[in-house]
Amino acid sequence: MKTAVCPGSFDPVTYGHLDIIRRAAGMFDRVIVAVMTNASKRPMFTKDERVELLRRATAGMDNVEIDSFDGLLADYARQKNATVIVKGLRAMSDFEYEFQMALTNRKLNPETETAFLTTTAEHMYLSSSLVKQVAELGGDITGFVPDGIIEDILKKVNRAGGAPAPESVSER
Ligand code: PNS
Repeated sequence: MKTAVCPGSFDPVTYGHLDIIRRAAGMFDRVIVAVMTNASKRPMFTKDERVELLRRATAGMDNVEIDSFDGLLADYARQKNATVIVKGLRAMSDFEYEFQMALTNRKLNPETETAFLTTTAEHMYLSSSLVKQVAELGGDITGFVPDGIIEDILKKVNRAGGAPAPESVSER
């Protein structure tokens, strides 16, 4: 059985993530979507909330599981017997960072390969930070994220009093 891990911050999950997850699910027997910590980002949603949004968004994808983990991705992949780490690439600007992570992960865990799926052209511009910014500034986020999680994003934004995101970071 071939297991793949799709790691990320997923703060929140977007149609871009779901495209990569769906395509990975067509390539591997089991796909574990792992909500992890990106040390350079301050998330809007807690890990548990991100897991819950992902569960809802991936309902019906039978070989996809949602999990979260606080340690190293390389250790998590080993623990789950994953042969592949799947990541999405939107543009060349993603590449340097992703390449560095892939090489680090291979050094830490040579048994797990990193595979990159190129995003569909339709999702090239999309990122979680863009979705949060649009929501915070009162824009329409339909078309960026599944309908079933829009309310959660709007609630979170309202709770923050419509204040701008604590820091502007590029993320997917
Ligand atoms: O969606 P993101 O923010 O680009 O995902 C990055 C993530 C969470 C996959 C990365 O930061 C990560 O792997 N975090 C877990 C901790 C870890 O293994 N850090 C070393 C990465 S080389």
